[in-house]
Amino acid sequence: MSKLALVTGATSGIGAAFAERLAADGYDLVLVGRRRERLEEFAAAHTETKVRAVAADLSTDDGIDTVARICAEEPLDLLVNNAGVAHYMPLAELPADKARELVKVKVLAPTLLARAAVAGMQERGRGAIVNVAGMIAFSGPAPHAQLPRRAVYAGSLAHLVAMSQTLSAELEGTGVRVQVVCPGVVATEFHERQGLDLSAIPRMGAADVVTAALRGLELGEVVCAPGVEDPSLLDAVFQADLAAFAGQSTELASRYRR
Ligand SMILES: NC(=O)c1ccc[n+]([C@@H]2O[C@H](COP(=O)([O-])OP(=O)(O)OC[C@H]3O[C@@H](n4cnc5c(N)ncnc54)[C@H](OP(=O)(O)O)[C@@H]3O)[C@@H](O)[C@H]2O)c1
Repeated sequence: MSKLALVTGATSGIGAAFAERLAADGYDLVLVGRRRERLEEFAAAHTETKVRAVAADLSTDDGIDTVARICAEEPLDLLVNNAGVAHYMPLAELPADKARELVKVKVLAPTLLARAAVAGMQERGRGAIVNVAGMIAFSGPAPHAQLPRRAVYAGSLAHLVAMSQTLSAELEGTGVRVQVVCPGVVATEFHERQGLDLSAIPRMGAADVVTAALRGLELGEVVCAPGVEDPSLLDAVFQADLAAFAGQSTELASRYRR
């Protein structure tokens, strides 16, 4: 029986690499992006794969609703929430429409697509949701000289990490897996589309991100960090999160009392 995957942001970079790998692995594909011609080129180059090209803008309610309907109606084995933009900019300079676009594409769309897909996956007792975030999700404590201004983008990735971890726990025992994949810098169109040239710095290939995500699913990883050699570093973050979470009480902490 053939397997079915839906990949958002499949017109370039990591999403295109997912489409390529999943086609090679025998999946039927629903591919989403705004650049319809690229989706059609992919379909024309992969005649052995059943490809449905869906041109949709995930920064619009209509676009999200169209793709969510497909997620609810089709028996997806895999949903890859990958589409994204970054709009690195100091917050005060970030135009409201760009902030709205970012939050819709990176927060609202993956949330509503996962929501639409998950009921059917639970009924079928199988399926996986992969949310593409990034190591910048963990960059909150970094001094500002170290990274570009990116408050909304970082927040959107942190949403994907917390949502994936919490949803994964919620779905324990259902046969449905959830993963958030957190690459570092990857050689795609991502930076160049916002006018940044990162070609001189070392970057991971998009195919390696896909390899990590798919192998990470087999390993049962909820948080997959393709470029982190020592996974105990991530475990330490999560243990510290839990320690802080467990360390709270309803008493006002003494340092806030005069
Ligand atoms: N490259 C990196 O260094 C890096 C690092 C960490 C995480 N990531 C994450 O990886 C994901 C994929 O990025 P990439 O590096 O592969 O960049 P990319 O080559 O620019 O691909 C971004 C994809 O998102 C789609 N997209 C953007 N806005 C959309 C919208 N409004 N509606 C529908 N699709 C939209 C684009 O398709 P259309 O333009 O055709 O719509 C494109 O297929 C992003 O979510 C990003 O946050 C990237």
